[in-house]
Amino acid sequence: MRRITILNPKGGSGKTTLATNLAAYYASRGLVTTLMDFDPQGSTARWLRSRPASLPAIHGIAAYRRAPGVTRSFQLRTPIGTDRVVVDTPAAIEPQRFAEFCRDADAIVVPVLPSQIDIHACAHCIEHLLTAAKIKRREDRIAVVANRVRPNTLVFRSLSRFLETLDIPFVATLRESQNYIRSFELGIGLHEMRAERSLPDIEQWAPLASWIESRGPARRSASREQPEAMPQQGEQVVAVVEELEQAFHRTWGGRRLAQP
Ligand SMILES: Nc1ncnc2c1ncn2[C@@H]1O[C@H](COP(=O)(O)OP(=O)(O)O)[C@@H](O)[C@H]1O
Ligand SMILES: [Mg+2]
Repeated sequence: MRRITILNPKGGSGKTTLATNLAAYYASRGLVTTLMDFDPQGSTARWLRSRPASLPAIHGIAAYRRAPGVTRSFQLRTPIGTDRVVVDTPAAIEPQRFAEFCRDADAIVVPVLPSQIDIHACAHCIEHLLTAAKIKRREDRIAVVANRVRPNTLVFRSLSRFLETLDIPFVATLRESQNYIRSFELGIGLHEMRAERSLPDIEQWAPLASWIESRGPARRSASREQPEAMPQQGEQVVAVVEELEQAFHRTWGGRRLAQP
């Protein structure tokens, strides 16, 4: 089983879009798929309700609700034989809660929009994943996906430069496309639309899908077996945060800093 958490406290960055499309992608490949939603807005439940019965079923878990009379682990159990669990998370979550969503994740995907505010929020999200949730970079569990991108714009070039400096893989670039809005309304994923309409978008998903497939339980436990010296971990985190801040200022702050 593989578990993929989509996380970024910034609202509107594309978490639900990534979660529903990934779930549909796995289900359409014959994998037993669960979509777990921690967002009280319950967008994935609405999407699942519109999903045509003729398409492969996706098991939904409304994790944001506390089910009375059952333990939390019983409520969050996945059906026997589950191959993929996709976890959608809410906006505005506090860094202290990151660990709860990431603890068992084989892959943590952070969608980011190409805007100054969103890039700054993404930097802080990664900072909190490394510090508050104590995820080690060498576990290679975190990746960034640029979403709603219009190529050849200045802001996209800035976003690319910023992500390259992170040493956190920037695994996919998804364009701004009406196909995401249409497919969501229909309860389907891009991969389930008519191919001629969605082909340019589908192609953009390939690197994300293969990055996720290259994660996995075996790889994760192997990296965890090696103890990491605490001082080194602390220094590493400080260095990462400084690097993020510098990258941000190089990308966005240069002109402002040069002004009197
Ligand atoms: N690549 C895209 N192209 C066009 N619209 C998009 C794209 N990604 C997301 N959207 C739209 O942006 C809005 C916010 O996306 P959503 O996935 O709900 O974000 P989040 O779950 O992070 O709040 C939704 O209306 C969604 O359909
Ligand atoms: Mg959402």
